[in-house]
Amino acid sequence: MLQVTNLRVAYGPVEVVHDLSLSIEAGGVLAILGANGAGKTSCVEAIAGLLPVAQGKVIFNGADIAGRPASDIVRKGLALVPQLRELFPNFGVEETLEAAMGAAVDRQSLTIEEIFDYFPVLAERRKQLAGSLSGGEQQMLTIGRALITNPKVMLLDEPSAGLAVGIVRGLIDIIKRIQASGVGVLLVEQNLEIAQAVADTCLVLATGRTVWEGPMSEAIHMEEIREAYFA
Ligand SMILES: Nc1ncnc2c1ncn2[C@@H]1O[C@H](COP(=O)(O)OP(=O)(O)OP(=O)(O)O)[C@@H](O)[C@H]1O
Ligand SMILES: [Mg+2]
Repeated sequence: MLQVTNLRVAYGPVEVVHDLSLSIEAGGVLAILGANGAGKTSCVEAIAGLLPVAQGKVIFNGADIAGRPASDIVRKGLALVPQLRELFPNFGVEETLEAAMGAAVDRQSLTIEEIFDYFPVLAERRKQLAGSLSGGEQQMLTIGRALITNPKVMLLDEPSAGLAVGIVRGLIDIIKRIQASGVGVLLVEQNLEIAQAVADTCLVLATGRTVWEGPMSEAIHMEEIREAYFA
């Protein structure tokens, strides 16, 4: 569904992602783990068209989308849930979702009610401004905004960041439900509990390079990974 080959991402002369390759199947979940500054966000933003691709291929649904505008990429069915939630604070919950529906353009988007079925708390807040939602509610809205475009692949950049432990459980259920609907998921996480609960494969990034990849079930037994993430 999504196949990235030898991706390089740079800020000016400074390359921060070197030769990264990965692939995601429909209904598969790949976790990218890595310390702060490892290049995780740069990688997903380049895939989503928000950063230039210095080199490499991003094959999505059979076509190379490397370097295409972000709006085209969303329209093709690849949606990003950004690390910084980037909601418009003065948009209401419903307005935010309506605006995102437009991004699906030629594909059938989901309905607002379908998103409320995933996140019932948002239905209770449908008129509330995004900027006045709690952190957890904002994260739900950010995921809902991507989900409503009816993506084939979703990139989630540290969705658990800043969330209370209780909300993390709910996030796991949501990701499993998205996966069960046949969507491929690329999950950037520093929270191993979530990665372990949902991912089937795992890739560990360190200073822009893949230092380990394999089944998630093996990753959790790797001493280095345990030391870095289970501390
Ligand atoms: N706009 C920018 N200009 C220059 N360098 C940048 C820019 N954004 C990020 N970088 C650098 O690129 C490298 C990778 O950053 P990136 O945000 O991709 O890491 P990350 O793995 O997502 O980290 P975190 O876990 O903290 O979110 C870092 O060294 C960072 O300082
Ligand atoms: Mg990041």
